[in-house]
Amino acid sequence: MQDLLEIAQERDAADPLREFAAAFWFPRRPDGQAQTYFCGHSLGLQPRAAEAALQQELCAWRERAVSAHFHSHGPDHPAWIDYPDGLAADLAALVGADADEVAVMNSLTVNLHLMMVSFYRPQGRRRKILVEQAAFPSDRYAVASQIRFHGLDPDDCLVQFAPEPGSRLIEEEQAEDWLQAHGEEVALVLWPGLQYASGQAFDLRRIAAAARAAGARVGFDLAHSAGNLPLRLHDSGCDFAAWCTYKYLNGGPGAVAAAFVHRRHAGDAALPRFEGWWGNERTSRFLMEPRFSPAAGAAAWVVSNPPILAMAPLRASLQLFGEAGMVALRAKSVALTGWLAAHIEALLGDWLEILTPADPGRRGCQLSLRVRGRGKTGHQAGRRLHAHLERHGIVTDWREPDIIRVAPVPLYNRYADCAEFLRHAQNWAESERSSAT
Ligand SMILES: Cc1ncc(COP(=O)(O)O)c(C=O)c1O
Repeated sequence: MQDLLEIAQERDAADPLREFAAAFWFPRRPDGQAQTYFCGHSLGLQPRAAEAALQQELCAWRERAVSAHFHSHGPDHPAWIDYPDGLAADLAALVGADADEVAVMNSLTVNLHLMMVSFYRPQGRRRKILVEQAAFPSDRYAVASQIRFHGLDPDDCLVQFAPEPGSRLIEEEQAEDWLQAHGEEVALVLWPGLQYASGQAFDLRRIAAAARAAGARVGFDLAHSAGNLPLRLHDSGCDFAAWCTYKYLNGGPGAVAAAFVHRRHAGDAALPRFEGWWGNERTSRFLMEPRFSPAAGAAAWVVSNPPILAMAPLRASLQLFGEAGMVALRAKSVALTGWLAAHIEALLGDWLEILTPADPGRRGCQLSLRVRGRGKTGHQAGRRLHAHLERHGIVTDWREPDIIRVAPVPLYNRYADCAEFLRHAQNWAESERSSAT
């Protein structure tokens, strides 16, 4: 039988996106070899072009200082006042929105707060916020604090939707049924595009339709979807969305985030908003008038002037997304993650359970793995596998209580990386087997 690594290398050679890996820096092991990096779901790798993009802005600051705000400094180099517009347009194309429905600003949790200021308006019996039970902690804290901000009690108003007993996944149908039965008390549904722990992707159109049919507002946390899944955010009908850019979008640690506000809310004067001068429409922004004149669309939610140095690496990364194209990236992602999943099941099925749905339509590139309990708990064995992989330069991450997340990112991961993962996981299983006998 052909060696797995050889098969993987043949696949890499036939991969139309194979050149893109060379556009990134890979962290090194102590022996100088590149690590096998599967943590793009947490922090995407640095595009090699990021440094030059940042240098360009440092240079503009050094040599032009304040005039760089308004004057372009060379071809393909926007004035700082225009800088976020290009990012918003690129991000809008990635998430299936119009450019003026997207604003690039702040960080993810801050944007969720700003969106909830506008879209969580508890009234009468309609006061509740629905989240999924395993929601990312920051979202839960944000939601609970918004409820308290309105003088309400999270114990009454925060509804945490759980999977059916025995399952780690929530079916869209469950949420639809629940909203149909209880929706008149719900003011807002805040839902993930892709669940960070299980890797389950949701049908956003169905969630948004169910929430809106119940009379609730609906927003999405797309931290794990943007740059990972093809999205049609505008068509989903949601009211808002927010996402960070340091995961699949490779914008760098703590990079600037984005928010989407559906076109139907553009210019709605009745919608409350926390405002600042940068949300004022451009032609009168510098007239410094006492009255706020909102920019059209999502730009009205921008509070402060843009952090150019934090945006430059994102600009370099979005260029790569533009070159590769989301359609090609998704096609590779489905094949690459599918290949890894099939081999985990075939070679390691006795040891590892894949928690992420098997249907490629219900997942992105991430697989969430759990070591099956045997004698000692799966938790302890899982920690041993995670540590074993780390010792061998395979970077995955651990999420309590027992999940190892592995994300083959189509922009820079290869089949050979997956073969490496499989080889080391098999070695680990072998050592566990021999230490048990
Ligand atoms: C799903 C999800 N929501 C929210 C956050 C919080 O993001 P930030 O710290 O950028 O606000 C994260 C961070 O990893 C996340 O994964």
